[in-house]
Amino acid sequence: MKQILLYTLPLYLYASSSFITPSEYAAQLYKNPRGIGCDKCHGENGEGKLIARYKHKGVEKSFRGPRINNKDYREFFNALNKRNRGMPRYFLTTKEIEALYLHLHKDEEEKGRADANKTTTAL
Ligand code: HEC
Repeated sequence: MKQILLYTLPLYLYASSSFITPSEYAAQLYKNPRGIGCDKCHGENGEGKLIARYKHKGVEKSFRGPRINNKDYREFFNALNKRNRGMPRYFLTTKEIEALYLHLHKDEEEKGRADANKTTTAL
């Protein structure tokens, strides 16, 4: 699956915006989708982030954006197509979700190739 994405995504992105590279596009989308940036709640690289601390009935509580750079593509896609408590609904296109996924996994390209087959059979 990942391998397919790596091949098709650049073509699609090249057609829609020829002045930036696919990874620049994905990085921008992560920070500025339609609405508030994912980085505000999930951290710069999807590592998760503390959004707020508050007290509820005298008990310390915190509101966190969970880590999202450790999901497989299917989980990531599904999470973006359902309501998540505390998270805005974005109505992203499949291509946008693919771009965001690749952005969060850009450092694992090598590893990604290794488990590409595994992911394909899982889908
Ligand atoms: C206002 C804060 C906020 C923003 C902005 C936000 N999220 Fe979230 N996100 C959350 C919270 C809180 C959860 C956990 C929801 C739950 O527990 O039901 C979540 C859950 C998720 C999950 C599922 C994680 C899991 O463990 O199942 C994914 C994937 C995700 N967000 C991706 C994104 C992406 C991509 C963006 C940008 C397009 C984004 N989020 C923007 C707060 C946010």
